[in-house]
Amino acid sequence: MSQFQSVKGTRDIFPEESVQWNHVESVVRTHAALYGFREIRIPVFEYTELFRRGIGSTTDIVGKEMFSFQPDPKGRSVTLRPEMTAGVMRAALQKNLFSSGMVHKLFYIGELFRKERPQAGRQRQFSQFGAELLGVSSPAAVAEVISLMMQVFSSLGLKGLRLRINTLGDGEERSRFREALQAWFVPFYDTLDEASKERLEKNPLRILDSKNPTIQELVAGAPRLYDYLKETSLQDFEKVLFYLGERDIAYDIDHRLVRGLDYYCHTAFEVTSSELGAQDAIGGGGRYDALARELGSSMDVPATGFAVGMERLLITMERQGLLAALPSDAPLVYVVVQQPDLVDNGMQLAWQLRQADISAEIDLAGKSMKAQMREANRVNASYALFLGATEYSTGCYSLKNLATSEQITLTLDAILQFLQERRAQKSLYS
Ligand code: HAM
Repeated sequence: MSQFQSVKGTRDIFPEESVQWNHVESVVRTHAALYGFREIRIPVFEYTELFRRGIGSTTDIVGKEMFSFQPDPKGRSVTLRPEMTAGVMRAALQKNLFSSGMVHKLFYIGELFRKERPQAGRQRQFSQFGAELLGVSSPAAVAEVISLMMQVFSSLGLKGLRLRINTLGDGEERSRFREALQAWFVPFYDTLDEASKERLEKNPLRILDSKNPTIQELVAGAPRLYDYLKETSLQDFEKVLFYLGERDIAYDIDHRLVRGLDYYCHTAFEVTSSELGAQDAIGGGGRYDALARELGSSMDVPATGFAVGMERLLITMERQGLLAALPSDAPLVYVVVQQPDLVDNGMQLAWQLRQADISAEIDLAGKSMKAQMREANRVNASYALFLGATEYSTGCYSLKNLATSEQITLTLDAILQFLQERRAQKSLYS
């Protein structure tokens, strides 16, 4: 073992797992295309100010979870991105994407960094896929974003996920509610835990989604934002729910759902899995009409988006037995060279197979035939192709199905054709 260990809260993804990641990513790409979302890739770090302004200085992320540093002695502080939304909006504004009032539908897959206390399902480096619909906010836009997320889940075969949804109203409605909430909590100040006391001052809405049972009991009697919403906001929310109903997307309205980022308005949502422990949120998102202005835009860029945690998604898939059946990246053929003087011919044979788009492996270390067969099984090859003196002189090769032990002997051309047909049935990442 090396003296070096990976940093706490990070993990390595080895090939067996990469197959699973690639599968999820390809499902994401397929569905993003179905809805007209196109991929954006943005830098891993941004100026710290972007997140402070975008996510909100009173949030946990900005308050205590950012990895920030100063690359140049007198330069501006930069931060490893803790989420993608602020960066995507920054990129779109910087490129003037909205000058013609256009709508942009963008998706991403990438790594994020948060200085949280590592535990199951919570890392310091993790990955998300997500989508942002920029330039329009309407119940239809929100429904599109939620549908895309839920369709990815169902295509992956996930079951029993819970979509919780709420409306946070607009800025004015929320600030009236915020005052009412603060006033309501004051007499209970001594009952509040430390985190809630802190939130009462800075961000009282966050008390609503506290996981502390005592606070939850208290919250049950607190005022509800719903009662502070104007008719237009209520209708907007109803319309989102209508679209979800039309698309057979099940949801639970949860008046306590507020989310941990400050940029949301109107609809906010979160998806949880009972298969996960304390960190049960697989994904979440919502509408964020004011973010562009917060970042200094001179025009409104209403928007909605979501992000899903890849690690938590894969943990849930594993617990639901959805990973075992995924296509593997094992080679189709292992070339078994029966005598040392044929190694060069074996190399040539492997090359010919690959030229014909057939994945092939061959021993590179001069192993015995028995050891080569062991290796063929270890790498999970479907077939062993034998090269011995007879094969070499006759041009006919024996191909053994390693699962059934059936063996056929054919000319090289016939073998290539046979394997090409098998390959078509066994595409790498379906
Ligand atoms: P978020 O709720 O902070 O939202 O993160 C989305 C998902 O990322 C979570 O539900 C969770 O699955 C995963 N996640 C978050 N932190 C960690 C962690 N430390 N370790 C492992 N997984 C984690 C956002 O990031 C928003 N940008 C979503 C959004 C997009 N809103 C609008 N557009």
